[in-house]
Amino acid sequence: MKLSKRLSRILDWIDCEVLADIGCDHGYLCAKAIQTGRAKKAYACDVADGPLKQAKRTCETENLQKLMIIRKQDGLQDLPQDVDMVVIAGMGGALIEQFLADWIKDPNFKDKTKVCFLLSAHKDVSHLRKFLSDHHFYIEKETVVKDGHYYPLLKVSYKPSLPIQNLLPEEIQFGFNLPDIQEVNDYLRHEQMKWLNILHSLPEDKQAEAKQIINLSLKLLDQRKELQSKSNA
Ligand SMILES: C[S@@+](CC[C@H](N)C(=O)[O-])C[C@H]1O[C@@H](n2cnc3c(N)ncnc32)[C@H](O)[C@@H]1O
Repeated sequence: MKLSKRLSRILDWIDCEVLADIGCDHGYLCAKAIQTGRAKKAYACDVADGPLKQAKRTCETENLQKLMIIRKQDGLQDLPQDVDMVVIAGMGGALIEQFLADWIKDPNFKDKTKVCFLLSAHKDVSHLRKFLSDHHFYIEKETVVKDGHYYPLLKVSYKPSLPIQNLLPEEIQFGFNLPDIQEVNDYLRHEQMKWLNILHSLPEDKQAEAKQIINLSLKLLDQRKELQSKSNA
């Protein structure tokens, strides 16, 4: 049972009593979270039978039947009340938004503010950040993991009684309070090159959008360089 680099980094951020992994696939993350003491109990949830079967096998092989519960579950529907941390990874931002939008409206889940979410969308991440900010979700921390592709990882909680977290355009695009690590700088340069390479093949209205993204990445890279030289001085 070996976790990918991406899942290992998610595991590093798990710290809870009761975990729910939505879209658990083989169930490795839940099993490892229990075995490493990062969760006391875990729900391995998926909507499809194939992954649930694999997760059940993992649970039995690792002898975790008392602590790891295999659940057929669509998104965050009927999320058990004892869950205090949720992982949603390896899905598109739009689907994650749908899960969260439905969960906010769910009258059955009582204490929504105690739940912490670890989100790692493989696409539409800037749209997801805008959704989070508009719906009183607070990004507590964020990073980028390079595992073949670059994957964002966000730690988020729901704070409906607070004013919304106003994110700057560069934060919506690339992430909030990104750590000072090489992986993040590489990611920003990678995004910049990606957009520069396709800029002239885009229709005119899309070119303006692409230019803005390129400028935001330049701005962030400059800011990060300046901060680094100040801390080195
Ligand atoms: C690409 S896999 C990602 C697996 C794992 N979370 C990861 O990050 O490696 C997506 C998983 O999400 C599950 N899934 C898709 N839609 C879902 C839904 N509405 N509710 C729960 N699970 C879902 C799929 O069955 C699949 O196992």
